[in-house]
Amino acid sequence: MNEPDSSQTQFWVKRWEVGKIPWDLGGIPPTLVSFLTRTRTPTRVLIPGCGSGYEVRAFHEAGHDVTAIEFSAPAVAHAREVLGPLGDKVVHGNFFKHDFAATRYGLIYERGFLCSLPPARWPDYASRMASLLSPSGRLVGLFLYGQEPEPPPFPLTEETAAGLLGRSFRLLRNESVAVSVPVYQGLEHWQEWEKIES
Ligand SMILES: C[S@@+](CC[C@H](N)C(=O)[O-])C[C@H]1O[C@@H](n2cnc3c(N)ncnc32)[C@H](O)[C@@H]1O
Repeated sequence: MNEPDSSQTQFWVKRWEVGKIPWDLGGIPPTLVSFLTRTRTPTRVLIPGCGSGYEVRAFHEAGHDVTAIEFSAPAVAHAREVLGPLGDKVVHGNFFKHDFAATRYGLIYERGFLCSLPPARWPDYASRMASLLSPSGRLVGLFLYGQEPEPPPFPLTEETAAGLLGRSFRLLRNESVAVSVPVYQGLEHWQEWEKIES
């Protein structure tokens, strides 16, 4: 029997339709609150695979120019409801196919997106991130490390992360997270990767 493919929209739409969203925190990760407190310079921010999109409001209220992108229609509808007047900051589209034209971001926020992708898609993730960031732009957020017997989520190892991101990024900060949603518990790390010229 074929395994369900988590790179496909339908995989995620099905979960959103039945409310099977165990990754959903219901709010802002404390590590993001602390990042926003120490990162005062406003920049253009992208949130790929934003789900409920709680972080859109947090970045907006911190003065950043934020856009989120999500390809599951029920998730987009939910995020727009959560965000009210900020709902138009959520683009309904595929991160890998959307035409971002010449827009480049100072910051891309990660939570639950890389680990939602089968590892075969990770090289596309790394190159897309690097190409959408401005020089010295940063890929920041929560990355999963460890073992998962029934992926997704697909966690990284230090070796795979170094191989994947090490060519285009330098790791500036790495902190393990004590408390996560059960499906990510013990796996989440707050990381900040700065784009380097290759
Ligand atoms: C595990 S959820 C994480 C959602 C959110 N970031 C969070 O932390 O709650 C992954 C989300 O990414 C979305 N997604 C997966 N691949 C995508 C793609 N190529 N483009 C846009 N959204 C995508 C899914 O629809 C799903 O809502």
